[in-house]
Amino acid sequence: MSKTNIAVFVSGSGTNLQAIIDSGIESANIAVVVCDIPGVMAIERARKHGIPVELVNSGDFESREEFERQIVAKIDGYDIDLVVLAGFMRILTPYFIGCFSNRIINIHPSLLPSFPGTNSVRQALDYGVKKTGCTVHFVREEVDAGPIILQAVVPITEEDTEETLLEKIHTEEYRILPEAIRLFCEGKLTLSGRRVLISS
Ligand code: GRF
Repeated sequence: MSKTNIAVFVSGSGTNLQAIIDSGIESANIAVVVCDIPGVMAIERARKHGIPVELVNSGDFESREEFERQIVAKIDGYDIDLVVLAGFMRILTPYFIGCFSNRIINIHPSLLPSFPGTNSVRQALDYGVKKTGCTVHFVREEVDAGPIILQAVVPITEEDTEETLLEKIHTEEYRILPEAIRLFCEGKLTLSGRRVLISS
């Protein structure tokens, strides 16, 4: 089976990156990991598995677009078909999104369109919803607003704290992000307006 080259973008602990690695998606090749923060755990995880790491420190650039142009230059040689944002804490500009049109996906820790942006787990608890979860979606210019590929529901109990809820959401993230990557790499996702149709 021919493999789809993916670039995984990270900024932190990289537990979703680890889940992608561990899931061993046959149709995907993790060609490169891109990181914007020096010294984070995600870099170690990639190196341990022999995956090339391109570190592009956002603090070194005057504008978001210059930062992104450097990323595009760095990943140019990897022949990337899919960009996976797995805890990448930067908002992408139209320039970068245009470079990978309909080929960027993101994992977000809520049931979008509820609780976009930051602190989504805290937001869900404070609002008092009984269910939250996580969403994998295509990336558009508007933050956390692109077409939804997969979602998983996590019930909230009265005992839940931000920590316990985050742990439950993570468990679901580690399942649906690799699954969404697999579906993309196997050519099973089709966009119809805002809807993502999944063929079996
Ligand atoms: C995840 O919860 C993801 O939903 C959010 O950032 C977090 C990344 O965690 N976008 P990790 O770096 O994968 O551990």
